[in-house]
Amino acid sequence: MARTLTISPSILSADFTRLGDQLREAEDAGADWFHIDVMDGHFVPNLTMGPFIVEACRRATRLPLDVHLMIEAPEHLLRPFADAGADWLTVHQETCPHLHRTLETIRSLGMKAGASLNPGTPAATLSDVLPGCDLILVMTVDPGYSGGKYIPLLDKIRTLSAWRDQGRTGARIAVDGGVSPANAREIVQAGADVLIAASAIFKHPEGIRTGLQSLRASVDRIPA
Ligand code: DX5
Ligand code: ZN
Repeated sequence: MARTLTISPSILSADFTRLGDQLREAEDAGADWFHIDVMDGHFVPNLTMGPFIVEACRRATRLPLDVHLMIEAPEHLLRPFADAGADWLTVHQETCPHLHRTLETIRSLGMKAGASLNPGTPAATLSDVLPGCDLILVMTVDPGYSGGKYIPLLDKIRTLSAWRDQGRTGARIAVDGGVSPANAREIVQAGADVLIAASAIFKHPEGIRTGLQSLRASVDRIPA
């Protein structure tokens, strides 16, 4: 069965002096969601944005907002992100000793629940919480920055995809980090159906439209 490919541009590489315009440009070029990277300076070395920016994006676009929490103790901030307008909320497996409960709480707040894995964390760490996952996000860089070098973790994506084929999960499989037209094809062939990209879209030398369309074109020829 053909899978729908979702492209979620990460605003981490956007020009924040004109964020609204950049969102509109990406939306016009065919963005499906927007990815918002929340970093706390503890779990990852960088410090970025919080519910305030999610709320600003909510006013600038109708597209789903896919919020990626790279923060310790995310359970304390689930409600503020729901109130700010997040549609998908993804926490890291590595930051959640009570992952089952955290995923349940995300859903109870009306959002779709995601679980993310650092490059060094095996897919098997999610095998007991699969029914609670609407999305599984495979990090293909060590999280913290945009513009990192892609780490090919195709076996991890294939494992998740096999679980989906076996009916063990209905979760979307997202890949985040260093995604570009050079590797999008192998990522989708391995089973991913959500591509997250910051620099390949917002820093494309010919602009956001070309960045987004080149990414989509690089996988459009994949047979179902
Ligand atoms: C990295 C973030 C990614 C990042 C991707 O920690 O989670 O979403 O914005 O940036 P690129 O696509 O430039 O690697
Ligand atoms: Zn991200």
